[in-house]
Amino acid sequence: MTDNVRFTRRSVLKLGVGAGVALSLNRLPAFAAEPSFVVPPQVGGLIQRAIPSSGERLPIVGMGTARNYENPIPEQVPPLRDVIRQFPEMGGRVLDTAPSYGRAEVVVGDLMKELGNREKYFIATKVSLGGRGGGGGGGGGGGGGPETATASLDRSLSRFGTDHIDLMQVWNLSQPDVLLPMLDEWKAAKKIRYTGVTTSSDQQYGQLEALMLARKFDFIQLDFAIDNRNVQDRLLPLAAERGIAVLVNLPFGRGRPFQKVQGKPLPGWATEIDCTDWSQVFLKYVVSHPAVTCAIPGTEKVDYLQLNLGAARGRLPDAALRKRIETDFDAI
Ligand SMILES: NC(=O)c1ccc[n+]([C@@H]2O[C@H](COP(=O)([O-])OP(=O)(O)OC[C@H]3O[C@@H](n4cnc5c(N)ncnc54)[C@H](OP(=O)(O)O)[C@@H]3O)[C@@H](O)[C@H]2O)c1
Repeated sequence: MTDNVRFTRRSVLKLGVGAGVALSLNRLPAFAAEPSFVVPPQVGGLIQRAIPSSGERLPIVGMGTARNYENPIPEQVPPLRDVIRQFPEMGGRVLDTAPSYGRAEVVVGDLMKELGNREKYFIATKVSLGGRGGGGGGGGGGGGGPETATASLDRSLSRFGTDHIDLMQVWNLSQPDVLLPMLDEWKAAKKIRYTGVTTSSDQQYGQLEALMLARKFDFIQLDFAIDNRNVQDRLLPLAAERGIAVLVNLPFGRGRPFQKVQGKPLPGWATEIDCTDWSQVFLKYVVSHPAVTCAIPGTEKVDYLQLNLGAARGRLPDAALRKRIETDFDAI
């Protein structure tokens, strides 16, 4: 882990810095052996990681807007407004959306315009050629041409009332040979700040790996959760090696792991990494992988927001505890 530091109880005491560290110390178990957690260097605020291609730092937990932001009825908007207001107030920055998520870009963009807080966000959205990612009809396949992509970018800029998108991602590997050069042009023209490619399917991992080896882009976005760990085999190590930032989608597997632990108490080690809830265990497991830059859990209410951003504070599991979390979760 590049920007996290391992501390023994002794070394933390020796450093003697910061109220946050002092608070953490109060919760340290009284043992002499090396504890199985990592104290990130930030004290207070949210833990951050650097984007390898620029060094810009982002909080390790952001939010996603699929499904719940896609087509809210009027009564469902106030809780979403609360989230869009409070997320940056609580230190959050990365918000992931897509033209393929129904009206999500419009819903979020309108709320940001109303609240005047777009500049506090790191907006990640997507583009595809034809299909839903391009702002049109159904799947993620091809069909459109470069003008489809340009129109999609223009729509995204207008929906957020902004002159730039922070991260533009090729949605689900939709024609990257055509779209990645376009993204590079948009980046040179300062219409976007970073380029990326997304997937959430094992079937695309081989193609994504080949692309990571063949081309240059700033981010990948992929699916990774306590019960969905295949990306650890090749894609995450490769991202670290190639200096590519990683956004994690589906960190809660759309709710799967919650069903498995329903009614089960938190294991004893959860307090060692400052978790008060299973959601924080699941998120801390994901964001403590050294290659991960930021997880983007779908977040549609303030209760979830507090829990999820809470996972970007305090101690993170080290490699040994990450292994134990896997073993204990699998054994449930
Ligand atoms: N290929 C791609 O580009 C791609 C694919 C998929 C997703 N994404 C992105 O990744 C984001 C995350 O994926 P996702 O939203 O589909 O799935 P997810 O993050 O795995 O699960 C989100 C769901 O978990 C529940 N939840 C959230 N916080 C919780 C908490 N603290 N405690 C308990 N439950 C909690 C909520 O469901 P309930 O309301 O049911 O409780 C929420 O809708 C998306 O929003 C999207 O931005 C991208």
